[in-house]
Amino acid sequence: MVVVKTKKELLSELNNIDSSIALGLVPTMGALHQGHASLIKKAVSENQKVVVSIFVNPTQFNNKEDLVKYPKTLDADINLISAISKEIIVFVPEVSELYPKQVKTKIYHFDGLDKVMEGEFRDNHFNGVGTIVEALLNLIKPTRAYFGEKDYQQLRIIQKLVEIQQIPVEIIGCEIVREKHGLAMSSRNERLSKKIRQKAEFIYETLKTAKQKFGTESVLDVKEWVVKQFNDNIDFQLEYFEITDVNTLTPIIKKNTNTKQRAFIAVYAEEVRLIDNIALN
Ligand code: PAJ
Repeated sequence: MVVVKTKKELLSELNNIDSSIALGLVPTMGALHQGHASLIKKAVSENQKVVVSIFVNPTQFNNKEDLVKYPKTLDADINLISAISKEIIVFVPEVSELYPKQVKTKIYHFDGLDKVMEGEFRDNHFNGVGTIVEALLNLIKPTRAYFGEKDYQQLRIIQKLVEIQQIPVEIIGCEIVREKHGLAMSSRNERLSKKIRQKAEFIYETLKTAKQKFGTESVLDVKEWVVKQFNDNIDFQLEYFEITDVNTLTPIIKKNTNTKQRAFIAVYAEEVRLIDNIALN
């Protein structure tokens, strides 16, 4: 397997490849788990060549401590990737490779997609995500790029990014991979105690029941019910629960059977921030 650190090395690897073949890109920040693996496997099955990038992007962290504390497990990451395919190119750049002049965030107009939920609680986060994903897409020029529905709002923002910047790439959304009891896989789960990690199935259970209730009850009643579940549970603190249109991500007040809706949640458990979402119809 090839591991490259510089843009120059990466481009020389890519130049060796026939330009007519399909190239897949899976951008990650490392600390890889089975959620990431599912994206990589899908990319391998749909393209003749795949690049996985591992880069902890400084501009998307609104909290310096979170950036410094971000887990770095490069050897294990490379093992996980090579177990999927030995043909993958792994791109592991330094910050100065992707931000050669200065670490600067571009400002985008994502049509309000960045103003709700994660955007509301993580200032400037999506401009940072846009900045790095645009840089990676322009550098690697993949046929397809893979993103998880675990970060559904991020997926919608990337779809908007390639539309407004007119980047010729197909954005592929991939289903959420969950732990045995339903907690959405995340590198942050490692920071939970064993006891709370087990109890955290409560988050997905609540989402599933909210989905059931959505079939028969009003949006407001479902939201109130979710808030109550968290008020009654001291282990988890609810940051937000929203029901939105899947395209605009604007919270809905009334059900609309002509459009698709999704429920989104952000929760603190032992000071670890966890997010999840579920399709409602
Ligand atoms: P990271 O958190 O490493 O995630 C990389 C990709 O894996 C994202 O598209 C994310 O949605 C997906 N993913 C993570 N956990 C998943 C799960 N349980 N099921 C399915 N997919 C999952 O997201 C980022 O990095 C960064 O913001 C990035 C896009 C790389 C830009 O820096």
